Amino acid sequence: MQAKPRVFITRRIPEEGIKMIMEHCETEVSDFDGVLPREMLLEKVKNKEGILCLLTDTIDKEVMDAAGPKLKVISNYAVGFNNIDVEEATRRGIMVTNTPGVLTETTADLAWALIMSIARRIVEADKFVRAGKFRGWEPLLLLGTDVYGATLGIIGFGRIGQAMARRASGFNMKVIYYDLQRAPLQVEKELGASYRTLPELLSEADFVTIHVPLTPQTHHLIGEKELKMMKKGAYLINTARGPIVDEKALVRALQEKWIRGAALDVFENEPEVEPELLKLDNVVLAPHIGSATYATRTKMATMAAENLIKALQGEIPPNLVNP
Ligand code: DGY
Repeated sequence: MQAKPRVFITRRIPEEGIKMIMEHCETEVSDFDGVLPREMLLEKVKNKEGILCLLTDTIDKEVMDAAGPKLKVISNYAVGFNNIDVEEATRRGIMVTNTPGVLTETTADLAWALIMSIARRIVEADKFVRAGKFRGWEPLLLLGTDVYGATLGIIGFGRIGQAMARRASGFNMKVIYYDLQRAPLQVEKELGASYRTLPELLSEADFVTIHVPLTPQTHHLIGEKELKMMKKGAYLINTARGPIVDEKALVRALQEKWIRGAALDVFENEPEVEPELLKLDNVVLAPHIGSATYATRTKMATMAAENLIKALQGEIPPNLVNP
């Protein structure tokens, strides 16, 4: 009988995915409670044919070298794969996979929750009540901004961006979007969305929500210049990747009120959060929980497992990202 392929899973994911992998592979799951320190990662991947990793693991040339020539597949437990050097993997004939589709609606729900939270000052309101400051209804207490009827500017009109447009229709919003590629007219029509250039979008939207992947082209896509193009009463929402926004510029924008607020699920140097952000009331902060529902994380686990198993069986996995 042929030996089972050896696989390393860098952190415990929902059991359903681990069980699938265990049926087909000799599997080692990291029992380290946290992001695996680099030295441990380099040690653990040795002689493995498959790695199932997280967006918090940097999988570069050094890791591929450490794994050795048997490595066939790197299955990322995320839709974003900026943590993996795909070019290097491709050069070595290593397949890289991700988990698209299954987290679209969950991530759009979170982006929507952030829009509502910052516009209606939910976090400030919660703190206010807990601090025992509520003395009864007040005419000018915690006034916010209407989401209903406002203009939503979507940067990146892929799966999640389009899911945002669908949500916006229930709020009677005007939807404008920017993407490198304009969507087919049929899609624009169905979603009631109109194309804008990035400067047009920034100057017109009341809520700007980011849904592009992190690439060298989108790094600091939103910096000082772009933040200054936004309306004074507008909000920036980021549930994509932190480095798409220049965090230092955003802090100044929030401190000096170039914009009214921001809501962030991702940060430039995760897990570090720019200390100045923590001092501000006009920003809502979440710890990268866009896809964090029981159902979605389970679907991501089985999808990542299927990708890994298929690749190790010599098939083209369903969610290959190598060009
Ligand atoms: C992803 O999948 O890229 C999200 O950031 C986490 O689920």
